[in-house]
Amino acid sequence: MNQREQADALRHRRELVVQRWQALGLDGPALIPAGLPIPVEGTDLYHDFHAHPEFQYLTGAAEPGAALGWQPDAGWTLFAPSLSVEALVWESAPPSPTALAAETGVERSVDRSELAAWLEAQRGQPLALLGSRDIQQRAADYGVEAWAALETDIDEDATERIGRALAELRRTKDQVELARISRAVDAAIAGHLAAQRIARDGLSERALQIEMEAEFFRQGGARTAYGSIVGSGPNSAILHGTPGPRHMSDGELVLIDAGAEIDGYASDVSRTFPVSAAFSPIQRDLYDVVLASQREAIASAAPGVEYKNMHLKASATIAAGLVDAGVLRGAVDDLVNNDAHALFFPHGLGHMLGLTVHDCAGYLDDRVPEDRFGLAYLRTDLPLQPGYVVTIEPGIYFVPALLTDPERRERYREMVNWPRVDDLLDFGGIRIEDDIQITVDGCINLSQALPSSADDVEAIRREGLGIASA
Ligand code: GLY
Ligand code: MN
Repeated sequence: MNQREQADALRHRRELVVQRWQALGLDGPALIPAGLPIPVEGTDLYHDFHAHPEFQYLTGAAEPGAALGWQPDAGWTLFAPSLSVEALVWESAPPSPTALAAETGVERSVDRSELAAWLEAQRGQPLALLGSRDIQQRAADYGVEAWAALETDIDEDATERIGRALAELRRTKDQVELARISRAVDAAIAGHLAAQRIARDGLSERALQIEMEAEFFRQGGARTAYGSIVGSGPNSAILHGTPGPRHMSDGELVLIDAGAEIDGYASDVSRTFPVSAAFSPIQRDLYDVVLASQREAIASAAPGVEYKNMHLKASATIAAGLVDAGVLRGAVDDLVNNDAHALFFPHGLGHMLGLTVHDCAGYLDDRVPEDRFGLAYLRTDLPLQPGYVVTIEPGIYFVPALLTDPERRERYREMVNWPRVDDLLDFGGIRIEDDIQITVDGCINLSQALPSSADDVEAIRREGLGIASA
């Protein structure tokens, strides 16, 4: 997609937003600041800058200190940051207003020094303030010295309603977004493959992370989409475990959950593989249970399908597999209704993916997470629609903290074969996660090129270890 096509798509996106706002009867001005770098306390450093996703969605850009304004009569104005001569000695020059206009399609892109006058012109009118709210404390850093004197009247109700409309629109990804997500997914695939090939007995989690992330960056990743999760052995049961100096050993599993960020868009992919050339029998059995639940969920993903039902179906498949493995006891329906499966699958099936790894608006407006162990961590509860991108990431874990908790042992005394669990306490965990784009009649698995069958994973491991194929 060339720059002109991209700018046209962004223009169309903003038109849809305005239509939504007008349909809500909202006709006041709105300001959407991008946000400013956040200082690291006690140092002269700044945290890695993340533009506010609402600004990024509306402009496709991520310039710190920029802001986008909307006026019903004059339309959009993009305020482009500029740096002083002194600052330019230390920092790269930001794109000019002309360059930003071409990139974003906002024809009226002006120097940020015009923001104060724009705000002055809104005096007396309630202003919807979306994006970053840091302008209220750091207006001078946006070039607005007299914020307090402007007596800007923030319309909280309009802000809330516009914000919700924007979040809903952001569920459906357009062509610019899908292209960016696809590139982020491709970078993730390359990184995962690199890691799966180099893993071996004695290597540290950290070494695996380094090689994987290097590949993300080689493939165009600007950064990781979140802190990469690399866990070996028992660490593979830590859902958001940070890679550390632990050395992996033959016989253990490695779980990697990691993605790249490209042009603001995230990928989020998980695979689990053996350090040895092959899974052990119990590793393979449970791996195949997770894979079956994941494949069923992907096969069912289509417009109109309730994501929560997919989660419950995956929970049932996992419960059945754990019964077969001698871990759970009883009828699958009873086990799921009592959340016994959640002792081993203590998270949701997945989430929306986009400008952030857990993208906004995963729940329909009138729904809230259920206060129930098996559903409390479900990040998505809505019927799927074309253009949504979701992850599908079931798992089975042996989390010692959960499984040695006396209260849970008592509650699930009959449903769990506790001696069998004790034998598996250091098993670790398995998660398999793909990024799924919903289409008009089904879905596309964007990360399908990264193999997930146990046979294919073992083939990659054998190749990586230099072992001739069986
Ligand atoms: N990638 C981590 C998560 O989805 O929570
Ligand atoms: Mn995820």
